[in-house]
Amino acid sequence: MVVSVGTMHGTRRKLKVFVMTMMAAFVFIVVEVSRSTGQDKNNQSKIRIPSKPFWRKRVPHDAYWNRQQQKFDHDNNPILNGPNGTGYEMPDWLNDTVGRNSCEPDFRVTAQMKDFSSLPDRFKDFLLYMRCRSYPMVVDQPEICKDQPFLLLAIKSLAPHFDRRQAIRESWGRAGLMANKTVITVFLLGNTSTLDNFPDLSHMLHFESQRHRDLLQWDYRDSFFNLTIKEVLFLEWFHTRCSGASFIFKGDDDVFVNTLHIIEFLKSLSPAKAEDLFVGDVITNAGPHRDKKVKYFIPQSMFEGTYPPYAGGGGYLYSGNVAKRLHGVMSQVPLYPIDDVYTGMCLRKLGLAPEKHKGFRTFNIEEKYRNNPCAYKGLMLVHPRTPQDMIKIWGWLNDPALNCQ
Ligand SMILES: *[C@@H]1O[C@H](CO)[C@@H](O)[C@H](O)[C@H]1NC(C)=O
Ligand SMILES: *[C@@H]1O[C@H](CO)[C@@H](O)[C@H](O)[C@H]1NC(C)=O
Ligand SMILES: *[C@@H]1O[C@H](CO)[C@@H](O)[C@H](O)[C@H]1NC(C)=O
Ligand SMILES: *[C@@H]1O[C@H](CO)[C@@H](O)[C@H](O)[C@H]1NC(C)=O
Ligand SMILES: *[C@@H]1O[C@H](CO)[C@@H](O)[C@H](O)[C@H]1NC(C)=O
Ligand SMILES: *[C@@H]1O[C@H](CO)[C@@H](O)[C@H](O)[C@H]1NC(C)=O
Repeated sequence: MVVSVGTMHGTRRKLKVFVMTMMAAFVFIVVEVSRSTGQDKNNQSKIRIPSKPFWRKRVPHDAYWNRQQQKFDHDNNPILNGPNGTGYEMPDWLNDTVGRNSCEPDFRVTAQMKDFSSLPDRFKDFLLYMRCRSYPMVVDQPEICKDQPFLLLAIKSLAPHFDRRQAIRESWGRAGLMANKTVITVFLLGNTSTLDNFPDLSHMLHFESQRHRDLLQWDYRDSFFNLTIKEVLFLEWFHTRCSGASFIFKGDDDVFVNTLHIIEFLKSLSPAKAEDLFVGDVITNAGPHRDKKVKYFIPQSMFEGTYPPYAGGGGYLYSGNVAKRLHGVMSQVPLYPIDDVYTGMCLRKLGLAPEKHKGFRTFNIEEKYRNNPCAYKGLMLVHPRTPQDMIKIWGWLNDPALNCQ
């Protein structure tokens, strides 16, 4: 016991010395920093711009996407591309502005990726058309946002999913006034071409579009790896047609969304919080799947590294302000075949991170609660739900007799 008391005294003394040393070091740093900033204050215009690059020489990354990002970063580097240049010579591998946004297939990739020929077709298709970001719009609703909605629901759908769209219109996606706020719903569609053995649904889509005036369709192949195109085209459309919307929910057509709860949540936000809002079921510390059998498989030759935090594509909620910034930054990030990861990459470029909200249940809720109306009251989103489920749950939530303590 005595010994241990002695050691305690010793420890305290050591701690004291340590604290004093740290304080002295801190004071020294503060003085140095204020001295150096003081020098700047004397002449504010004296900002020295280095005349030569002062960083490590860049070497081309092994993975194709990462290499594209290096090129984009180079193009957007304000020092290298300043008004008078820097007399620096661009290495050939970075000099690639030829056809940067071309919609012609880029056959160079077949030689630039050593395992290109052995990749599954969806990768080949993606890589060949990775530079193309604009496709013709075949169905538009130019006036749909003229009243500047509070909440825009943008639902990723596929042409044959008529029943899902109709269930959404009849339940959580009913356009008009909800909780005293204007809600607008649009469905985002690509093309399900007969070339991919889809039945010809064009007449039925035409009828649906005339009747509901809520379809947006572009002429590109609606495939899993082209969902990123859907995101890019949607942000472009938002920019031109709906930039007055305060908030956006973007999600799939197989989810149930508690729109009432979302609106109450949005109303409760402080202006600062609302400005930078991006919430969903956020996945952190993830990376590409290397197992070929997984839907989300990405080969090493295509991408290396970890994913930034991203909100699962089943549904996320963000502000119109963030949408505008995403639209501005997306041209600085090469397309990535997984749409929600791509959005995470764009957010990271903006210096933003999506925030996790426990009301977004993209991996469903416990089975024993699924038929309990009160389980949905405090949720924002549940995945997956059938069209019939959507109508049933929406009925529960709007029943005045519903009493949840
Ligand atoms: C700052 O320096 C520039 C040239 O180096 C000089 O023209 C200018 O007058 C200085 N300004 C002040 C406030 O000292
Ligand atoms: C760029 O070069 C032009 C002509 O040589 C010169 O007039 C101008 O001041 C330079 N601009 C900068 C930012 O150095
Ligand atoms: C890039 O390469 C092209 C030829 O492919 C050449 O004409 C051009 O000068 C190069 N640009 C730079 C900045 O080196
Ligand atoms: C509905 O919104 C209007 C305008 O935003 C407001 O004046 C009114 O008080 C609101 N009504 C309710 C019940 O919140
Ligand atoms: C879109 O679908 C229509 C009808 O099936 C077809 O004629 C057209 O070629 C398709 N476009 C693309 C890009 O696949
Ligand atoms: C994406 O759409 C374009 C345009 O229709 C098509 O050429 C390309 O093959 C599609 N990519 C994938 C991965 O399906």
